[in-house]
Order: sequence, then structure tokens, then C-alpha cells
Amino acid sequence: MALLRRMKLGSQGLEVSAQGLGCMGMSAFYGPPKPEPDMIALIHHAINNGVTFLDTSDAYGDNEILLGKALKGGMREKVQLASKFAVVHVDGKMEIRGDPAHVRAACETSLKRLDTDCIDLYYVHRIDTRVPIEVTMGELKKLVEEGKIKYIGLSEANASTIRRAHAVHPITAVQNEWSLWARDLETEIVPTCRELGIGIVPYSPLGRGFFASGAKLIENLTDNDNRKNFPRLQAKNLEHNNYVFERVNEMATKKGCSPSQLALAWVHHQGNDVCPIPGTTKIENLNKNIAALSIKLTPKEITELESFASADAVKGDRHASMASTWIYSDTPPLSSWKE
Ligand code: ATR
Repeated sequence: MALLRRMKLGSQGLEVSAQGLGCMGMSAFYGPPKPEPDMIALIHHAINNGVTFLDTSDAYGDNEILLGKALKGGMREKVQLASKFAVVHVDGKMEIRGDPAHVRAACETSLKRLDTDCIDLYYVHRIDTRVPIEVTMGELKKLVEEGKIKYIGLSEANASTIRRAHAVHPITAVQNEWSLWARDLETEIVPTCRELGIGIVPYSPLGRGFFASGAKLIENLTDNDNRKNFPRLQAKNLEHNNYVFERVNEMATKKGCSPSQLALAWVHHQGNDVCPIPGTTKIENLNKNIAALSIKLTPKEITELESFASADAVKGDRHASMASTWIYSDTPPLSSWKE
């Protein structure tokens, strides 16, 4: 297999593989953590085949620790390691924290867990709507100056937050959900990123696995798989949404690829500033995702695919919680901040 092509992400010099590896499902949210030796073998397989952009977070169970172990023995230097902070659990409840004390403490903890001196790309995982983004960015900027992180990213911020953050220190990447059935970022977020020279990292490019198996996905989920709570995968919406999958599947059959590959190829066709990070826990699926990079789509095929999955063809929100702290969040003005 040829090594993956590389691309510049953002305008500050970060170079990554044109497809990354989402590592969340190895340790959290998608059923029980997967066996460590298998996941380390998968990560090594990814790196050896040119998938060097690895995506984790301090909110993904012990995933950072797993990556720290996997990257021993000369592997760390070969990868671009992305992690995230801000999502914390207090008394069983989720909270978002972007205050400077938390930014620093979270980074120090992640560095230890990842067993590294520096995180290549450090994202604000979700936006703290109580803290002006300038305040969060001020501390991140200090971490860059201290060499603890190299580049800064944001996830699920709105356009105004992206602009304000970028004015404090250049933002290298914005990570948002982007797939055939999650296209709401295209109106404001994508144009803002392009204007500011910020790279775009689509998460869940396979619709959390929906574009691999459609409604059958739900049959194979274990009890503690978070996807059971996703509105689009609820019984009341699933039959309707499966129609979208069936259309994609038919087109994939004609094209001689799998539906997940077609869905991923569509994301790759969104621009050379776009670097999707499909998540997988299986080497065979990773190989298929790598192969999807070579699939060429004609403008006609792209239009046809988009017509199947238009906003009114899909039922249910894209997140279990569409609370204001999760999606396209804004922050208060800097003048309101009291130390
Ligand atoms: P997320 O970003 O939330 O991880 P995603 O990338 O859209 O979501 O999809 C991840 C899901 O798609 C995982 O459940 C993964 O299952 P495995 O861990 O069993 O691979 C599934 N998936 C990824 N690549 C796949 C492929 N090529 N064929 C089938 N399923 C795949």
C-alpha cells in the first residue's frame, strides 16, 4: 500500500497525513475499551502506512495513556499528536471549563498521560460559554511559548468565537462534525476557516459508523455504546434515515466500493484544506479508509450523493444534547471577565 499523501493543515506550518485516525472508540463511548495490544498494533499499522495524524482527548477515558504507550520506541517522532481539553466530569455531570487554571492543569496532565514533552495540536474540545475566548486563548498562547503545545485548535465554536480566538493567536485547525448527513458547518464555519487560513478536521466522517451499515449498526452495539442515545439512530428516526444509507449503498455498489468508502471519499472531496479523522478499532477497516483516499468522484456523483442526504432527508439532531454549550458556542465579551 502506498503511503498516504500529506497536506498542510492551517497556515502555521503543521503538516499531517491527508487522513487522520480518530482514537476515541478504542477507549471510550463506543462500548467497552478494546484490548490494549490490539489497539497498539492498530496504531502502529496506521503509522507504518502513513496515517500519522492521531486524534485523542483527555475526555476519552484512558485513550491518552494508550497513545503514550503506543508511541514509545521511536514512534512519537513520526506522528502529529492532537489532544483536547475542556470537557470534565464533576459529580457524574459533564462540565466545560476554559478558565486559565484548568487550561494549564489539563495540559500538564495530558502531557504526563501521553508521556510526551509537547502536544502538536491542542484543541479546545468544547467552548466554555462562561469564559471569554480571549482568556482561554491567553493561557494557550503561553503554553505555545513554553513549548508545551505547538499549534492551537477549536472544536464546535461559532464563527465569532473562531475570529476572536484567531486574533489572540493563530488557530491552526477547527474540528467539527462533517459528513454527508452533518453539513451545518458549511454555511458559516467553513467560509470563516477559509478566510482565516484555518484547516478543517471533520470528526465522525462516517456518521459514527452509520454509513458503513445503515440501520444494522444499532443491532451490533453493546449496552454501553453511547450511539444508542443518538437521535438519528433512535428507532423513530432510523427507518427514515436508513433510506439515505440505502441510496449511498446503491451508488457504492455501482462504483465498486463500500458505502463507508463512498461517504469518506465525499468528505475528502470537500477541499485540500480538509483532513477527516475516521475512527476505527480494526486494521481491515483502517485499510479500507486509507483506500477511500484514492476514490475519485465526478461533480455529478457529488451532487447525486448530496441530494440523498439533504438536511430534510435526515431525521433527528446530530448530537444527543444540542445544549448551547455543545454546538457552535459563543463566549461573553472580554470586558465581562473578572479574575
Ligand atoms: P467517530 O468519529 O465518532 O469515531 P466515524 O469516524 O464517523 O465516527 O465512525 C466510526 C465508526 O465507524 C466506528 O464504529 C467504526 O467501527 P470499527 O471500530 O469496528 O471499525 C466504524 N468504521 C470505521 N471505518 C469503517 C469501515 N471502513 N468499515 C466499516 N465500519 C467502519
